[in-house]
Amino acid sequence: MKAQKKKRAAFAVRSFFSGLLFVCAFADVNALAQQQQPQFTPQAEDPDSYPDAPGRDDAFYACAGCHAFRLVANQGLSRERWDETISLMSERHGMPKLEGKDREIILNYLAKTYPPKTDQNRGFQNPFLKQ
Ligand code: HEC
Repeated sequence: MKAQKKKRAAFAVRSFFSGLLFVCAFADVNALAQQQQPQFTPQAEDPDSYPDAPGRDDAFYACAGCHAFRLVANQGLSRERWDETISLMSERHGMPKLEGKDREIILNYLAKTYPPKTDQNRGFQNPFLKQ
């Protein structure tokens, strides 16, 4: 009789603690989930955020309609690769074809401002000096 009581008490204690553990774990996960909510502050992009050079506004308005211009600015490509990228945007993503002078101006801007990344400008970059 006594032994059975002890067992029952032990079981009760164990269930209590595992229940507590469960609640704590759950609360923790919840707290974490709340902490990890992205602090999203929408920022309107405008051409002034990017290095000033001839063709900047044309490039910005041609490319920023479908995705952030940041996506473009994050690349570092050779002139040929930029040229291919422009074609790709038209062929695959339905960008109005860029031809003649417009294409030249935009291509010049992209190739000059976003050339392939060298070892020199890889690694830490001071965000205050960048733009
Ligand atoms: C008609 C819509 C549209 C326009 C205009 C547009 N793009 Fe894109 N672009 C896309 C889509 C769709 C993707 C693929 C989805 C994504 O990565 O957001 C993409 C992706 C990219 C990528 C990323 C490719 C990769 O490998 O990750 C680059 C670079 C890019 N575009 C450059 C440009 C440039 C430069 C211009 C302007 C000359 C431009 N885009 C204009 C639709 C467009």
